[in-house]
Amino acid sequence: MKKIGVFTSGGDSPGMNAAIRSVVRTAIHLGMKPYGIYRGYQGMVDNEIVEMDAFSVSNILQLGGTILRSARSEEFRTKEGRAKAYKNLKKHGIDAIVAIGGDGTFTGAKVFSQEYRDIQFVGLPGTIDNDLMGTDYTIGYDTAINTAMSAIDKIKDTANSFDRLFFVEVMGRDAGFIALRAGIATGAEAVLVPEMETDIDALVKKLRKNVARRKNSAIVIVAEGDDAGGAFKIAEQVKAKGFEDYEMRVSILGHLQRGGSPTCMDRMLASRLGMEAVKALQAGVSGVLVGKKCKDIVYTPFEKAIKNKQKLNPLLLEIVEILS
Ligand code: F6P
Repeated sequence: MKKIGVFTSGGDSPGMNAAIRSVVRTAIHLGMKPYGIYRGYQGMVDNEIVEMDAFSVSNILQLGGTILRSARSEEFRTKEGRAKAYKNLKKHGIDAIVAIGGDGTFTGAKVFSQEYRDIQFVGLPGTIDNDLMGTDYTIGYDTAINTAMSAIDKIKDTANSFDRLFFVEVMGRDAGFIALRAGIATGAEAVLVPEMETDIDALVKKLRKNVARRKNSAIVIVAEGDDAGGAFKIAEQVKAKGFEDYEMRVSILGHLQRGGSPTCMDRMLASRLGMEAVKALQAGVSGVLVGKKCKDIVYTPFEKAIKNKQKLNPLLLEIVEILS
């Protein structure tokens, strides 16, 4: 009987629990034994591994965070750490793994599966950043953009009441997906993303145009990884250009974007991909990220998924320009 270990690693994302549930229940359905590995790679090193049954994933579908906890393990980066992890997996007879996480998770998965080829390893894209190649959307992204959108809607209310300019910083590490979608959905005046060089003069010009059109407030969305700095730095640079037409405020949305109950889209994606990951293991597949593109399930080698980041659609930036 195949024994499958499942874990979550790196930044948690809404829908990770739905993915765990799907992996566990599909494994049981296909006659395999599922094991939960706590705190990501660190739990593998520390032998925090427990057998799971269908009830251990009851009533978690709608919960944010991850019941298996998460961590970023320094020890697993070392050869000795990985050897400990391998020994622990063997102790439980685990011969296949489903890793749910982002690019850091798959970097670890790539190294481990090259060193220990007798344990199958597949990955599921679990991150709010949506920056992975090999899937249209990552698990948690849809919830995060909806959370960001409703937070920005609320900021707009107060921005309007006080005739203010708000710089709102959103997460995404070095990717601008959250910023761009949240910006379009809230009608932001400008969206600054790491994928495009930020021109402060052009931004000020745009804001002046906004004033000339008698708009009494403005929202600028800043992706945390933007090349011109975070929202505070950008606000300072705008001020330094002598732009004083609006009173300015900065709001950092931060980790609230990572929490909360997953949207229907994220629950669906997690449920589908969890099942597909177990089926892939059953078919002997290893060393790949299991993703979904259009309606198709796609396998992308870890190496490729990490190296080639998903590209931002420039058409979406054009939408911001035209509609704001
Ligand atoms: O990768 C998910 C993410 O939330 C990024 O958007 C962000 O840059 C990072 O994790 C924050 O990490 P931490 O929770 O360790 O501060």
